[in-house]
Amino acid sequence: MSEKIIVFDTTLRDGEQSPGASLNVFEKVEIAKQLEKLKVDVIEAGFPVSSPAQFEAVKRIAGEVNVVIAALARAKEIDIKTAYDALSQAEKKRIHTFSSTSDYHILGKFGHERYGRSLEEKRKTVIQMSYDMVKYAKTFCEDVEFSAEDAGRTDLAYLSEVIEAAIEAGATTINIPDTTGYTMPFEYGNKIVELKERVRNIEKAIISAHCHNDLGLAVANSISGIQNGVRQVECTVNGIGERAGNASLEEIVMALNVRKDLFNFFTDINTAEIYNTSRMVSGFTGIVIQPNKAIVGENAFAHESGIHQDGMLKNRETYEIMTPETVGVSKTKIVLGRHSGRHGLKSRMIELGYSLKESELDKIYEAFTRLADKKKEVYDEDLRILMGDEIYKEENHFELEYIQVNSGTNSIPTATVKILMHGKEYSDSSTGDGPVDALFNAIDRALKIQFTIESYSVRSVTSGRQALGEVMVRIRENGLSFTGRGVSTDIIEASAKAYLQAINQKMIHEKEKKSLHENESLNEAV
Ligand code: KIV
Ligand code: ZN
Repeated sequence: MSEKIIVFDTTLRDGEQSPGASLNVFEKVEIAKQLEKLKVDVIEAGFPVSSPAQFEAVKRIAGEVNVVIAALARAKEIDIKTAYDALSQAEKKRIHTFSSTSDYHILGKFGHERYGRSLEEKRKTVIQMSYDMVKYAKTFCEDVEFSAEDAGRTDLAYLSEVIEAAIEAGATTINIPDTTGYTMPFEYGNKIVELKERVRNIEKAIISAHCHNDLGLAVANSISGIQNGVRQVECTVNGIGERAGNASLEEIVMALNVRKDLFNFFTDINTAEIYNTSRMVSGFTGIVIQPNKAIVGENAFAHESGIHQDGMLKNRETYEIMTPETVGVSKTKIVLGRHSGRHGLKSRMIELGYSLKESELDKIYEAFTRLADKKKEVYDEDLRILMGDEIYKEENHFELEYIQVNSGTNSIPTATVKILMHGKEYSDSSTGDGPVDALFNAIDRALKIQFTIESYSVRSVTSGRQALGEVMVRIRENGLSFTGRGVSTDIIEASAKAYLQAINQKMIHEKEKKSLHENESLNEAV
């Protein structure tokens, strides 16, 4: 009998912790709805105590999406209570609480004497806290997951004790994170085997794998976990996440699917929705998918060399272990143009996975007709980018009203800008080393600000001279980075939009910080 592997998607929590990714509430809800179509079993929707926006996103998703919704909480009463409040409208809810268990983490985070004087005492404190907080979470909700953070580098005997305490307190899922992506697949698998042997009542809980990709082994470790007793995998779409990312959902799912001959496991994932989900996540987060990325990269099904092409024409299986259609990649490109009506646009957007309200359709239709006027052929990629750019942007922040930029050989680049916020106008002009520099200087002058530009990149979204250009700008202030994205057929305009969006992100962050009364404890690890 084939056994089911539970797919726990953490794109909206760990995935959103990717450097440069920031999703607003609307975008998160849209992704969650698409994850429901993809048929993931659990959506980790966020870390509610960490900000009002996180709380709001979890709350909205809990009310609108009908799969198990998980919310993250440190082993602290305030976190657990807040997680529960955010989840209250969910039909199926899970509180996911965690404690740090490796000596690195215990010594680093529990340095204060109140946690004990020696390592031995501090370790005991962590066991007690884990037990108490799982018990506390159980007063709100039956489904409680406990994670032993940095389990990958935790002494096995001690890890077994912590897990035993969490199970005794009622944890229904026990997660074994390889938080730093340190373990080798055989080690990770052995860890699961050892835990099954050592931990009393381990069979009362589902064992979960949560692997990071610092050595490029997150998927291999997750699969090794499955082979040795893991029945839930925690993963993200496109493998996004902290540092080098998390295990990629599509790679785990397709490995189990393509190698059914080896694995007696299945997931409920609707693989035909993989591509749409991947592109939606990339479009909203602004994290570009590398062309050679397995399953969802642009080249994943491209056959370049003559020998390969010849082989493919004779028999697809010569060089293809799965068909593109299995993961929702269509061979025929659908192109819309200025004569495609509102109805045609709406049905294409639905096919691409977006659930548009009438007011949103109005906005996207307007943006689409503007684009179709400039660019004869509008591709799926253009539509996805328009969604990210036009529909779900935050309101009440700086918006670009007007720019004029002059530059050329042997002339000094100059730029003039007009920016609006709440009907108030901010305008100024400046020169610079190039047109983009002049533009950013003019914006700085108009808004009386100045940021360090950490990175600036331009890419073409589709091919051809009139392709949409996507600009990403990352700014930095006081050790914090904020990313903005702008899209236009004119890359100077896209640059202005991207810079303003990064500034808007910074303002949103400041507003949130204020509304949390500068609660410093939120940045504490415990
Ligand atoms: O990587 C990790 O350890 C985590 C935990 C919070 C589960 O993300
Ligand atoms: Zn993680």
